[in-house]
Amino acid sequence: MRPKHKSVETRYMEERQEFFHSLKGLDRRSFMKVSAAAFGAAATRGLVPPTSFQPVRLSAGQGASAAEIHIAYISDSHLYEKDVNDRFVRSLLRAVDDVNQLDPQPDFVLYGGDLAQLGQSKELDLGAQILKELKAPVRMMVGEHDWYLDLGEKWKSLFGQPTYSWDHKGVHFVTLLSVVEKDFWTARGMSPMERMKTVAGLDNGVQSPFTVGAEQRRWLENDLARYSDDTPLVVFSHSPLYKLYKFWNFWTDDAEEVQAILRRFRNTVVIHGHTHQMLTNRIGNIHFHGMLATSWPWPYAPEGIPALTIQMSRPDPFNPQDGCGDGEVRVHSDGLVDKIYNFWNRNPVTVAREYTVSWGKESVPARPNRPSY
Ligand SMILES: [Fe+2]
Ligand SMILES: [Fe+2]
Repeated sequence: MRPKHKSVETRYMEERQEFFHSLKGLDRRSFMKVSAAAFGAAATRGLVPPTSFQPVRLSAGQGASAAEIHIAYISDSHLYEKDVNDRFVRSLLRAVDDVNQLDPQPDFVLYGGDLAQLGQSKELDLGAQILKELKAPVRMMVGEHDWYLDLGEKWKSLFGQPTYSWDHKGVHFVTLLSVVEKDFWTARGMSPMERMKTVAGLDNGVQSPFTVGAEQRRWLENDLARYSDDTPLVVFSHSPLYKLYKFWNFWTDDAEEVQAILRRFRNTVVIHGHTHQMLTNRIGNIHFHGMLATSWPWPYAPEGIPALTIQMSRPDPFNPQDGCGDGEVRVHSDGLVDKIYNFWNRNPVTVAREYTVSWGKESVPARPNRPSY
């Protein structure tokens, strides 16, 4: 005889089953479910719902020319196969839902890399399936977690070449593969999965530092050669194109050489993933901004944090999505940007164009509005 009352565990497992069943076709219902949960969570805390950026937009606009291009970003989802970990799958669904609710829709969505956790076909296929639900065009960037199982074979079969550029409304955009490592695996006789897991780890002292590499630097020089110095330039890289903290690979080893190629441009913005936190820097005319992750937030590195970084609160350990989120980039006509961090459990934070233009003197973002743990 079937029991009349179902235990919490049974109900959870049934819901989970149903959720993943609907994921097969990714119908509207899955998104409504995630969206409703996200809105409810924000509303009970008196926070601005995830897609209500309007007040932030107004305050960010002071003294700046109107934003010409709107980009939404989603990054670092680190998907496992869905029967291993469904939390990160739900987080990516939530980000896709956030972006789909933006009105007007962004010019494009930039995916910042580390879609997969261990570069496996099932992880990347799942990610591609979820990202297909985005209404706006999607530009993909690759991260080390996507790459080092098969050296990009699967990722490229889904998304094309990782290095490319395009022009949009007078701005030149470039996406780089910034996680090129020297071969540390052949001499050690490592299997593809051993290589992948080594790259996925921190503090192991075995892998090489990330680089853009000579080949891509040449490509970048050639690509930029036809543009004048006053062309607004936005570069997307997975790792920061500067040296922050080597032991966690918050670092690009040939950063100075890449910066030397970008230096002649009057205004350059580099938007990067990988660091899973609010991170802002400026080196000469190059303005750098890190993206939030949908999977987990990294703590700040013990050294090397750039002076312009606005520290975010340490995430609440009782809330697995605290410190996570997605966001927007608003590109002005001079190529500089307002960067909007859409924290899922806190009010959004805008790092306005004026903040980096004034070297941190003007439009200083508000301090964290929630306790630090
Ligand atoms: Fe990541
Ligand atoms: Fe990464």
